[in-house]
Amino acid sequence: MSYERIKIWSILLRLYHWSFAGSIVVLVVTGLYINTPWTNSLIENHNGFPMATMRYIHFLAGFIFTAAVIMRLFLLFFGNKFERASDFAPVTARNIKSIPAQIMTYLYLRKSDEQHLGHNVLAGTSYLLTFFFALGQLISGFYLLYPESANWQWWGLTFFGPQQQARNIHHLLMWYFIFFAVIHIYLVIWNDIKGKDGLISSIFTGEKFKKI
Ligand code: HEM
Ligand code: HEM
Repeated sequence: MSYERIKIWSILLRLYHWSFAGSIVVLVVTGLYINTPWTNSLIENHNGFPMATMRYIHFLAGFIFTAAVIMRLFLLFFGNKFERASDFAPVTARNIKSIPAQIMTYLYLRKSDEQHLGHNVLAGTSYLLTFFFALGQLISGFYLLYPESANWQWWGLTFFGPQQQARNIHHLLMWYFIFFAVIHIYLVIWNDIKGKDGLISSIFTGEKFKKI
């Protein structure tokens, strides 16, 4: 069987993926620390500034996360054919029809025969959901960071209510990202083993292998 290499993911998409994934790992670790500091907080301002440092790293990673979300927003509309929402959102009859087939494939009830060059629709739908939750995390985060800003107050109060409620939702959303990451890494490894298109390397090289 022969294959040809096809360019699927632009450099911007790959940059988005790794800045998004990397910043989330840092945000989860520092966020958990902000919630339940695991150092003796009595050393604050005596032998160091652990909470201040963790919060600083959280905000820095928060800005990288924000830049990543903006990159993805741009690509949803102006990316290449495979990066645009229209390719993988369940909005066309063909895409909607492929969802049950994809679920059956994951349940080992059907052999996967078709080759997706972009995201399969089930994965694409979960990425869109992740994008919306990322917007929620970003708005609640900036609302917590700049409580005195009239702009962020408007966004925060409109979507989340008072500060403490925004903080609780910010915390709950973190768990979505943790579960997403675990399932996502399992599924990309699964698809890489079952498929022949070189899925995992594509998020580094931008290229997949297409059967000819
Ligand atoms: C996936 C992304 C993110 C995760 C997982 C995350 C996680 C967390 C967690 C767990 C907390 C502690 C809240 C608590 O449980 O009491 C927190 C606090 C906070 N986060 Fe995030 N966060 C994320 C993104 C952001 C972003 C984009 C910003 C904006 C810069 C931000 C700003 C803040 C602020 C200001 C606080 C409050 C700090 C404090 O009360 O001292 N976060 N975050
Ligand atoms: C070792 C770690 C990781 C590997 C090897 C990996 C690999 C991949 C691959 C191969 C794809 C394309 C899959 C497809 O076509 O459906 C992808 C997409 C994606 N990954 Fe990861 N990933 C990793 C970690 C993460 C983490 C930690 C997150 C965030 C919590 C994440 C978020 C995403 C998102 C949102 C997409 C969709 C990209 C888009 O919007 O087009 N990844 N990843």
